[in-house]
Amino acid sequence: MDQFKALVVNKTETDFTVNVQTVSMSDLPEGDVVIKVVYSSVNYKDGLACIPNGKIVKSYPFIPGIDLAGIVASSKDPRFKEGDEVIATSYEIGVSHFGGYSEYARIPGDWIVPLPKGLTLKEAMALGTAGFTAALSIHRLEENGLSPEKGKVLVTGATGGVGSIAVSMLAKRNYHVVASTGKESEHEYLRELGAKEIISREEVCLEQIRPLDKQYWAAAVDPVGGRTLATILSRIQYNGSVAVSGLAGGADVPTTVFPFILRGVNLLGIDSVYCPMELRKQIWERMASDLKPNQLLELIAQEITLEQLPEALSNILKGKLRGRTVVKLA
Ligand SMILES: NC(=O)c1ccc[n+]([C@@H]2O[C@H](COP(=O)([O-])OP(=O)(O)OC[C@H]3O[C@@H](n4cnc5c(N)ncnc54)[C@H](OP(=O)(O)O)[C@@H]3O)[C@@H](O)[C@H]2O)c1
Repeated sequence: MDQFKALVVNKTETDFTVNVQTVSMSDLPEGDVVIKVVYSSVNYKDGLACIPNGKIVKSYPFIPGIDLAGIVASSKDPRFKEGDEVIATSYEIGVSHFGGYSEYARIPGDWIVPLPKGLTLKEAMALGTAGFTAALSIHRLEENGLSPEKGKVLVTGATGGVGSIAVSMLAKRNYHVVASTGKESEHEYLRELGAKEIISREEVCLEQIRPLDKQYWAAAVDPVGGRTLATILSRIQYNGSVAVSGLAGGADVPTTVFPFILRGVNLLGIDSVYCPMELRKQIWERMASDLKPNQLLELIAQEITLEQLPEALSNILKGKLRGRTVVKLA
């Protein structure tokens, strides 16, 4: 086990490379727990980590992969022992601490979640950070009063990782889901996930945004941000909420105070990275039970190898991936 395979990103003054290499245990960073990685996954942030100006990776050479699930190979942390099935996502993983695109990872015990009963390692990575973000969004919306009888729930970027899982989780909980997508070819996929209505990206990203518009939705799960978020805020029902998690459509939000001060709209920020451990464990438990998507491995996730990763990473940045992609390492 001293030598193993990993996807290594390197940047020098003259060159930028992303390829599968042989590395050794001594290359791995400090940490209490050595994990034999069984699955990892592909997230937007991983795509950014593998381009020269992605502004994610802190120093090179680097092993990306913000998600991993596997089996403890050895542990100095009393909370974990050899053979335990575990999940490690977020914190510095895949950003400044070597991540999941590696047959072994060494991770601080404080960043590790035991695999909840009801999930396999593969299912955990089919969910991954995107699934966690969708689940945390729904959890926060419900904490702020959302229930199925309140009205329709919009999911933007619906064919993406966060979006697909949010559609499926909401449908499972009997919400009337309106999915917005830029991919006309994927309407059938969204219906199979449980979307009741499908609208185009343009319908939720207007050129002229009124301060207050017709009240269409009780809530929204929004990984797109930008002008889309501003459009949504003007169309959310009185006392409704928007859970914003991403910026696939841009970082600038041209909105006004009116949705907040005249309609009591709540804008809920969703951060998966430093979500406190107690809440993190609770969300993983929900993903293994009442929020577990019905067609996770059958419809939402596809599996690839380490060697196929560079293509998938490039495709996620072009918005071309559908659903979730898991990477099999063992
Ligand atoms: N806050 C957090 O902790 C957290 C955690 C995970 C992810 N995120 C962020 O959430 C976002 C989505 O992540 P993901 O993993 O779901 O990525 P993804 O799989 O690439 O999905 C993003 C989806 O957004 C839509 N989209 C892409 N480009 C767009 C554009 N220019 N305008 C409008 N819609 C566009 C596409 O869906 P359609 O074709 O169906 O429209 C795409 O599939 C990213 O910004 C990511 O960084 C944040």
